[in-house]
Amino acid sequence: MNRCVVGLQWGDEGKGKVVDILAEQSDVVVRFAGGANAGHTVVIGDKKFKLHLMPSGAVRDDACCVVGNGVVMDPEIFIQEIEGLDKQGISMDSRLFISENAHVVLSYHKLEDSLREASLGKNKIGTTNRGIGPCYSDKIGRSYAIRMADFRDLASLKDKLTKIVEYKNKIFSALYDAEPIDVDSVFESCKVYADKLVKYVTNTTKYLHEAIDDGKNLLFEGAQGALLDLDHGTFPFVTSSNASALGMAPGCGVPSRLVDDFLGVIKAYTTRVGAGPFPSEQDNEIGQLIRDKGNEYGTTTGRPRRCGWFDGVVVKYSAKIGGIDQLAMMHLDTLSGMKELKLCKSYIVDGVETDFFPSDAKTLEKVECVYETLPGWDEDITAISDYNDLPANAKAYVDMVEKITGVRVGVVGVGPGRSQAIFRN
Ligand code: GDP
Ligand code: IMO
Ligand code: MG
Repeated sequence: MNRCVVGLQWGDEGKGKVVDILAEQSDVVVRFAGGANAGHTVVIGDKKFKLHLMPSGAVRDDACCVVGNGVVMDPEIFIQEIEGLDKQGISMDSRLFISENAHVVLSYHKLEDSLREASLGKNKIGTTNRGIGPCYSDKIGRSYAIRMADFRDLASLKDKLTKIVEYKNKIFSALYDAEPIDVDSVFESCKVYADKLVKYVTNTTKYLHEAIDDGKNLLFEGAQGALLDLDHGTFPFVTSSNASALGMAPGCGVPSRLVDDFLGVIKAYTTRVGAGPFPSEQDNEIGQLIRDKGNEYGTTTGRPRRCGWFDGVVVKYSAKIGGIDQLAMMHLDTLSGMKELKLCKSYIVDGVETDFFPSDAKTLEKVECVYETLPGWDEDITAISDYNDLPANAKAYVDMVEKITGVRVGVVGVGPGRSQAIFRN
């Protein structure tokens, strides 16, 4: 059984938790997109792991972990993750595989990210400043890119870096009046990265196809969410990769028809970090209540997340483009205690009602949400493990999510812990 777990909103839906749970039944867990902009949380008892590049299956020490070609690899952060896990008694030796074709994020990418954002002023995207856009730009541009395989040959890496740094310095100086960066310090860091990471670098496409031929169970772990997808999200307020389920095949070299179950993770409400349209946003006391109850602060940057009502137009769209089989709805517990709950079922655009998500940013800025309103529930649901034991109003809420989106909710999250997920099938 091969599964793919992806976010269907603007990221932070709870993918890390769902992947950790499903990793128990998987042999190999594969990241295929994004980079250290991701922050995936796994909570086991009183231990909390925040993973940026490492597949969330790492926490289970029998799962093999693959970082696919579609990921932009920040070696500095990744080494910290490997060493951090090791300190907690979790060794990645013999079970970590990094694609030789994964592109490398270096210090000048992070500098470029922050310089560009600062220069945009009020038009900035609100990126994580992790160098994601600049690294993917270099990948698409081809001539000034470094891949993990380059760490195998330090002499030619030095030549490449010399040309790249010369080129970057011209841009930084001309566009941002920035101080030049020094190629020697970039190269010295790369020597350390190569020393620590080359042993994990391999042809992961070959590794994955051999695993498939051996009948292993694969679990693909998406980063970000469908609405942050470069092609299908709320452009330009998106990330620089195909963060929807559509990015899976190109990001690891396994065709999507080999996936038996596409699981779309959602929150019972909606959040977003950074700039961009958010039709059901509640920039008021309701949003603040959700933020407080759900602890809605960014895993990677610590920024407060923007919060709003559940948007079924968003999820219906993300599920359609991702070929989603079932939904895993997290944070139902966060809604406990709210008097009434709203779910957006359609938008009014220029006086016309539609339930299909508009792809154009200008249209999105002016849509008006049409809501269903349901009564809330007061019970604490965090210890419930049987779906039938949920309060009737909580079940009615889940039913409404299914009705609006047209997709079955197969999993319900009632708390951050590994055991706080109710599986309905
Ligand atoms: P990811 O990026 O999709 O992996 O999500 P994040 O880890 O960035 O953010 C999700 C947050 O919600 C984390 O702090 C999780 O521990 C927490 N979480 C996940 N599922 C639930 C749930 O069902 N209820 C509550 N209260 N918290 C949850
Ligand atoms: P996970 O995997 C939430 C957002 C940023 C910004 C936009 C572009 O934890 O769900 P980038 O640094 O990628 O160029 O920023 O995308 N963003 C995320 N928001 N969760 C994430 O990842 C995100 N990764 C990027 O806040 O708005
Ligand atoms: Mg996150």
